[in-house]
Amino acid sequence: MRPLQILPSILTADFASLSAEVRAVTEAGADVLHLDVMDGHFVPNITFGPPIVAAMRPHTDRPFDVHLMIAPADPYLEAFAEAGANSIIVHAEAGPHLHRSLQAIRKLGVAAGVAINPATPVAAVAHVLDVADLVLVMSVNPGFGGQSFLPDAVEKIRAVRDLVRGRDIDIEVDGGIDPHTAGLVAAAGANRLVAGSAVFRDGPGGYAANIAAIRQAAMAVRGEVA
Ligand code: DX5
Ligand code: ZN
Repeated sequence: MRPLQILPSILTADFASLSAEVRAVTEAGADVLHLDVMDGHFVPNITFGPPIVAAMRPHTDRPFDVHLMIAPADPYLEAFAEAGANSIIVHAEAGPHLHRSLQAIRKLGVAAGVAINPATPVAAVAHVLDVADLVLVMSVNPGFGGQSFLPDAVEKIRAVRDLVRGRDIDIEVDGGIDPHTAGLVAAAGANRLVAGSAVFRDGPGGYAANIAAIRQAAMAVRGEVA
């Protein structure tokens, strides 16, 4: 079994206090920080670009998982790598040359991830597995935090698990993850769990307990003890 990681999504943090939020969620037990980049074109929302990623970088020693919800993505890969990304995820739907995008990410010395939207079949990643380090199954339509988990994602995660079996590939899930859905997706085979609202909803005083609740639910179905 691949190691379980909990990835708080900074999308639901207080953007006016990003450095403090990054430090708080690090101290609260985040394994990796998930950074949602949106362009108002591929998705109907706009967030931030490389300068903000670079500004957050000195405030944590945790890896940065940069989820690009932008099209095209290729012209910006280098800037996000230089800003401090440890993994960069592009959407299968965002460009015509997914294989080339993943190759380009790896060439920058960064782990390469491919995301699939709820409407995208798992087969979309079948021929890029040689150049991918992680597959992200979206369990909401990308663009906003706080949406309800789409249950079909569980079946898709199982299908991805069967597809990548034997390869050095992580399975990530993003959208509507809380202690209840964490158990479902972890049982299906996801080992990297992104959570925005379920981590940040109670303010900094609640982050540690919120992360722990998600981790414990996932560990329980994996047969692990805290
Ligand atoms: C949605 C983003 C997610 C978002 C998840 O487009 O990719 O990372 O922050 O938020 P929750 O956990 O609130 O669904
Ligand atoms: Zn995301």
